[in-house]
Amino acid sequence: RREQSALAHRVYITRKVPPEGLEIVRRCGRVKFELWDSDDPVPRDELLKKVKGVDGLLCMLTEKVDAELLDAAGPNLKVLSTMSVGFDHLCLDELKKRGIRVGYTPDVLTDAVAELTVALLLATSRRLIEAAHEAKTGGWGTWRTLWLCGYELANSTVGILGLGRIGVAIAERLKPFKVKKFLYTDVAPRPQLAEMINAEYVSLEELAKQSDFLAACCALTPETQGICNRKLFSQMKKNAIFINTSRGGIVNQEDLYEALSAGQIAAAGLDVTTPEPLPTDHPLFKLKNCVILPHIASASYTTRNAMSALAANNLLAGLRGSQSLTRHHR
Ligand code: DGY
Repeated sequence: RREQSALAHRVYITRKVPPEGLEIVRRCGRVKFELWDSDDPVPRDELLKKVKGVDGLLCMLTEKVDAELLDAAGPNLKVLSTMSVGFDHLCLDELKKRGIRVGYTPDVLTDAVAELTVALLLATSRRLIEAAHEAKTGGWGTWRTLWLCGYELANSTVGILGLGRIGVAIAERLKPFKVKKFLYTDVAPRPQLAEMINAEYVSLEELAKQSDFLAACCALTPETQGICNRKLFSQMKKNAIFINTSRGGIVNQEDLYEALSAGQIAAAGLDVTTPEPLPTDHPLFKLKNCVILPHIASASYTTRNAMSALAANNLLAGLRGSQSLTRHHR
């Protein structure tokens, strides 16, 4: 037994993970793992200590994986598995330079994220949070003709910023609401995906000009950082609704605040912000036409378990040196 444990791969897991994933790691006899047994992120100092000498690291989107962390881990580190589809917290160049394999969790969260995006879009466009608040705080006088009116999807144009699996899944769900037209923009046309939802490729400017609903579901990269800014909002229609379930970093929040408070666009629904959590005294929280959720797009029991299982399998595949790791390709 002593020999076996000497041969075991050492792994650090940066958070309490859902049971399915944990079970997979537990059942694998050749892994000796340590876990930050909390719902909150491991403090950076602790993380830097704990990664020393590990062969594998399973992390969340809250951990910045940069040169400092990889240096602290040292040369044994073979695989980095993140329980997220987003990878903006990973310095891919540093990982590549060191030959560390990288796993992430696409696909398994597509349905949950698309579902939440539609929920957030409807909550924002039909003013559900505001309406529920009025109902329970005495604002509900009588039935009034234009009170709490919003905007409907029927006959609308929906623009998708960043067409990937999630963008397609959002459009598929919105189509039955009788959307008239789907548009999208991306770094280049994506004809195979676009064909699935009959979406037309346009420039970012056209997307802003034509969309009644603009849903951002792109990755955060140097190219998309701050892409939703004053210029974009000023090109949008006054009745337009902006929805973001990608990353807060794609939005210039000061510009969004301006656009929302000046009535340049009708409303925004955000599942992601900068920073997270967004301080409760942030000006965006003061606006009635801004619905803010605490980054819950993938938060269903099924999906979080599936993400943890995929992240665990990626970790083990990476340790084995197998090709079945769900890798991020650039
Ligand atoms: C991700 O996976 O990147 C989401 O933001 C959280 O599930």
